[in-house]
Amino acid sequence: MKVEFYGHVRQYHNIKSEIDHNIKAVLESGQYVMGPMLKQLEGELAAYHGTKFAVGVGNGTDAIWLALMALGVGPGDEVITHANTFFATAEAIWIAGATAVLVDCDPVTKCIDPAKIEAAITPKTKAIIPVHLYGQCADMKAIRKIADQHKLFVIEDNAQAIGASGNGFKVAELSDVTCTSFIIQKNLGTFGDSGALVTNHAHVDATVRKLRNHGSNARNVHSYGFNSRLDDLHAGILSAKLKHIDAWNDLRRKWAVRYTAGLKAAQQFILPTELPGYRHVFHLYVIETKKAEQRDALVKYLVDNGVDAKTHYSIAIHKQGGYPWGRGARTVGSLANAEWNAATCVSLPMFPELTEAEVDYVIAKTLEWDKAQH
Ligand SMILES: Cc1ncc(COP(=O)(O)O)c(C=O)c1O
Repeated sequence: MKVEFYGHVRQYHNIKSEIDHNIKAVLESGQYVMGPMLKQLEGELAAYHGTKFAVGVGNGTDAIWLALMALGVGPGDEVITHANTFFATAEAIWIAGATAVLVDCDPVTKCIDPAKIEAAITPKTKAIIPVHLYGQCADMKAIRKIADQHKLFVIEDNAQAIGASGNGFKVAELSDVTCTSFIIQKNLGTFGDSGALVTNHAHVDATVRKLRNHGSNARNVHSYGFNSRLDDLHAGILSAKLKHIDAWNDLRRKWAVRYTAGLKAAQQFILPTELPGYRHVFHLYVIETKKAEQRDALVKYLVDNGVDAKTHYSIAIHKQGGYPWGRGARTVGSLANAEWNAATCVSLPMFPELTEAEVDYVIAKTLEWDKAQH
C-alpha cells in the first residue's frame, strides 16, 4: 500500500462542484484582483474568527510582516518567537527589519514556552509571535498576561491552526493580529499561495489594505507600499473550502485519535499531547523518537514501505547554515527542547481524506519498526 502525505486531489474531487462553481463565477465576473470574491472571502474570514476585520494578502509570511509594519514594529525593535517554528515566522520579523529573539518551546506542546518569554524581554521588545504549532494553540492566556504587563503586541502565527481553540479562548481572541497562510497543504489551503490577517484594530486593517496594494486605496493615489494581494480565484476556492473547515478538522482529530490508540503501546515514541480543554486541529501529527539517532531510520523505514513520512522541522532556525545572514537575531537561554524536537520529530500522513485502511497501515508499519528495535 502507498499512503501519501497530502490529499489535495481527493479534497478537490469531494467538493468539485462547489470549487468549480466559484472559479467560474470569478472568471465570468471579469474581476480577478481585489474583486467581489475577495471582498466576500474577507467578510467570511472575519465572521469565522469573530473579528471586525480580515485582509487577504499574498501569503502567510507577508501577513506577519505586514502586521508588524502596521503596528509600527521595525528596525531597532525586537520580536520574540520560538526556535522550532517554521522558518517563515523568523523570516517575517527580518523582512520587517526587526531583531528576531528566539526562545525555547514547551517540551510537551512544542509551542512557545511562556515561562521563557520574560527573560527575553528588553526595552527594545515590541511584540511576541506565538505559533500554534502543528495545530494546537500556544498558551495564549499566559502570553497575553506577559504582553499586558510589558505593553507588547501579540501577533498569532496561525498558519497551522485555523479552527483551533484553547482552554477558554479562541484563536484571534487574545491577540492584536492573527495571521494565517492558505498555501496548498494548510488545513484551509488553496491551489497555490495566499494568506490573510484578522484583527479588531481599525488602523491595522486600513494600513495593511494600503500596504498590500502599492500604498493605494484610491486610483492613482499612492504612498509607500508593496504588491501582496490575494487573487480572486484563490478567494473563490477558499470561500468554497471554508464551509467545510470544521468538518475537515473533525476528521483530522478522528485520525489523530486512531493513530494515538494504535501507537500507544509502542516503546520508542513520544506521541502528541492534546491539552485538556483544547481543540487541536492536527495540521500535523508529529511523533518523536525517544532517541535522536532513531529518527532518520524510522523515516526511511516508513518511506521504503510506502508511507510518505516527513519531518517538521528538522533544523531549528538558529541552526540553519549561515544564520542569521547579517540580520538582527539573538537566542535567549537554553534551546534544548527546540533542538530535541528538531532532532526527533516525525510527521505521519495527516489529512481529512485519509481512509481507515491507510491510517491502520501507517500504524502497522510504525509498530513494526518499533518492535524491531526491542
Ligand atoms: C508556522 C508558519 N508560519 C508561517 C508560514 C508562512 O506561510 P506562507 O508559506 O503562506 O508564506 C507557514 C507556512 O508555510 C507556517 O507553517
